[in-house]
Amino acid sequence: MKSNLTFSTHNISLPTGTLHPGSHLQEFCTQLHQAHSLHYQTDYAALNLPFDAAYQQRIRELVAQKKKLRPTMLVIIGIGGSNLGTQAIHEAYYGSLQSANAPLLVHYADTIDPDTSALLYQQVRTHLEQGNTVLLSVASKSGTTIESLIHFSILFDVLRTFLPTTFQEYIVITTDVHSPLWHFGKQHGIAVLEIPKKVGGRFSVLSAIGLFPLALMDIPIDELVAGAQAITPSLLASDSGNIALQSATVMYQQYQHNIHIQDMFVFSCRLKSFATWYRQLLAESIGKEKDIHGTRVERGITPTVSVGTTDLHSVGQLYWAGPHDKCSTFVTVQTYEADATIPPNDSTPPALHNGSLSTVFDTIIQGVFAAYNDLQRPYAHLCVPAITPYYMGQLLQYKIIEIFYVGYLLEINPFDQPQVELYKTYTKKFLKL
Ligand code: PA5
Repeated sequence: MKSNLTFSTHNISLPTGTLHPGSHLQEFCTQLHQAHSLHYQTDYAALNLPFDAAYQQRIRELVAQKKKLRPTMLVIIGIGGSNLGTQAIHEAYYGSLQSANAPLLVHYADTIDPDTSALLYQQVRTHLEQGNTVLLSVASKSGTTIESLIHFSILFDVLRTFLPTTFQEYIVITTDVHSPLWHFGKQHGIAVLEIPKKVGGRFSVLSAIGLFPLALMDIPIDELVAGAQAITPSLLASDSGNIALQSATVMYQQYQHNIHIQDMFVFSCRLKSFATWYRQLLAESIGKEKDIHGTRVERGITPTVSVGTTDLHSVGQLYWAGPHDKCSTFVTVQTYEADATIPPNDSTPPALHNGSLSTVFDTIIQGVFAAYNDLQRPYAHLCVPAITPYYMGQLLQYKIIEIFYVGYLLEINPFDQPQVELYKTYTKKFLKL
């Protein structure tokens, strides 16, 4: 049997009595249980994605079909919830240095910063000129996001120039049924994967949005969904083993005590994009002007991302000495895939000679915890047994369900983003679209 993620809190007094029978949280757990049995019918639909074997099979079949084209470059077009989760798993699996044994050259096209975008388009052209194969994975739930549509339009044109009769085969669109992008795909004979209607953008990583490009990169999506499936019952249980409920309750309690900044401090470069994915999930889901009763509350938790040990040399001083308005959740890894030995030369203190990187790294983590304890600063510790697809699946599902609890506790709707829509509306108006 595989071990589990573990979560603990330090220098934080946990609220008591929130889970006694009949308590409001227990009712909410029951509501989530019902949502689990109602497939995609409720706002909490995302929690059912890992269990949809038929949907996953359709994705696998399309991946197998597209692999026959032997793509050497994959361009993932999408922004926000339509690419952050993919990046998180991609980086966790292949590492932040983009390992040489990765089967595909992968590029992300999200912002339309002209310098970077033009360079990417040029790289795609060059790749095609050299006789290589480029595949576009276009992801947009709404099918209307301007940045994604622009990238797609330009790269669609590039592909059509090089492959005038077969370009359609090299594109896969993932979007909502009947979105403008869905219609475009159908008109042009492009393969289209769907996102269940009720699954919101930032909750969609375990839909085709993430699973299609990840499988194309040879990342075992079966293990990813198996991890998410395995952890789900414990995340819906109204008992002390529910780590989503624990961390959500801690955040809620801290929010009441003016701790409004939640830092995810990952002690692995491979988890940086996971923390960035979570930053969007927490910020966009919880930052709300109005509560569920329509009262103006301007509520929200500010998520930050730190990477250990790098950011001990940037934000540590602030965290240990500055205002008591933040809490870090340290994410550490129990088993590393690789290690190195420190050679016995004069550049390092003798006590370190022949020691391993992992021992020193883990000792620094212990040093950080000791400093937090000395200073009586609050922190949480999330320990991941190993960075594998299985545990990444657990992490994603855990954080998605945690946000359901935080939204419930703070009495806001975690599924909309009305103020983000406002900037999109203005942009469209200024562009006369
Ligand atoms: O969570 C959300 O809904 C947003 O962050 C979206 O993911 C983001 O705006 C991109 O939207 P779309 O997937 O419709 O292109």
